[in-house]
Amino acid sequence: MENYKVAVIAGDGIGPEVLAEGIKVLKSVAEIDGSFSVEFTEFPWGCQYYLQHGEMMPQDGLQKLAAFDSIYLGAVGYPGVPDNISLGGLLLKIRRGFDQYINLRPVKLLAGAPCPLKDIKPEDIDMLVVRENSEGEYANVGARLYPGTPQEVALQTGVFSRKGTERVIRYAYELARREHKTLTSISKGNALAYSMVFWDEIFKEIGAEYPEVVTHSYLVDAASMFFVKDPQRFQIVVTSNLFGDILTDLGAAIAGGMGLAAGANLNPEKKFPSMFEPIHGSAPDIAGQGLANPLAAIWSVSQMLEFWGQKEWAQSVLSAIGHMLLEKRVLTPDLGGKAKTDEIGAEIVRLLKK
Ligand code: NAD
Ligand code: IPM
Ligand code: MN
Repeated sequence: MENYKVAVIAGDGIGPEVLAEGIKVLKSVAEIDGSFSVEFTEFPWGCQYYLQHGEMMPQDGLQKLAAFDSIYLGAVGYPGVPDNISLGGLLLKIRRGFDQYINLRPVKLLAGAPCPLKDIKPEDIDMLVVRENSEGEYANVGARLYPGTPQEVALQTGVFSRKGTERVIRYAYELARREHKTLTSISKGNALAYSMVFWDEIFKEIGAEYPEVVTHSYLVDAASMFFVKDPQRFQIVVTSNLFGDILTDLGAAIAGGMGLAAGANLNPEKKFPSMFEPIHGSAPDIAGQGLANPLAAIWSVSQMLEFWGQKEWAQSVLSAIGHMLLEKRVLTPDLGGKAKTDEIGAEIVRLLKK
């Protein structure tokens, strides 16, 4: 019997609250199916751990994680530990260390989910953002010169390698071809004359190998405007690390909110484990009160199942989320309901059993 080994890093704030629900769902999927099992191992890493040990995870943290099929992550970062230390020491370390160079983030408005845009039908917002996840603006190359003096200088260099740019763009073309979707590249070549002009050139170059894929290219400022004014334009979207970060919070805002936005950090070659997470943070403003919506964390379970090849289950979990949104019986306050975080997983399980 197939046994999937999942490393659980619940992390900070609402991370543990939302992951508990996702774990409930994944356990019950395995139970109902019967042909595979899932084994969870929890790692207590995060800001609390940092305050006790002076590091976000142990030195050999990546080695410990390497043996797992997947990583399930809640959220990282909390007041009391500087964000650059907490994120750089855990989440970003894993994304880079495990070469999780694809970040897949669906921006899909399910029927029943709230949408702040006027005259929008669910089918009008149905995109998949392919975010570069290993370099670009997040390459962590830079310097601080003359600290604390009037001449102080901060340098932060974007790193766009041919390998890194080609592989994410190729991945997006493959996806668009397989799914018969259009592909839109979002960049900023009019101002970033080195990195983004390079990005645009590679987008065209690789496009020559995919003549059947219909493409568009937008500048990121205009694209942000069209996300709001005309989201129908977008199907598969490929973009850089920072632009993808920003556009997918905007995407969350038009497709039901942060409580519904999931993301998969993939190492497509499976040389290293991939990591699945809601895209929201630790939400200190609502942590510990049972107010957090765990549907994003549950949606990322669907992405995990999909990556494992359990495609029917991936679809069933997503359908169960859709069902809940239509029924409106058991929903957290961000979606207009009164339910607590820990009622959501149980309701999804009930729907899956039906
Ligand atoms: P956030 O995503 O934590 O919260 C933004 C807003 O959305 C808050 O009002 C919050 O209450 C709401 N929200 C988020 N998730 C929700 C959910 N599941 N249900 C209901 N409401 C939800 O972003 P932030 O406040 O900018 O960041 C807080 C901390 O999290 C910071 O330390 C930041 O660096 C970190 N962060 C971590 C990750 C991650 O681990 N992947 C992602 C983003 C931010
Ligand atoms: C995300 C988060 C992270 C990112 C932060 C916490 C470093 O905002 O996953 O969207 O910018 O990638
Ligand atoms: Mn983000």
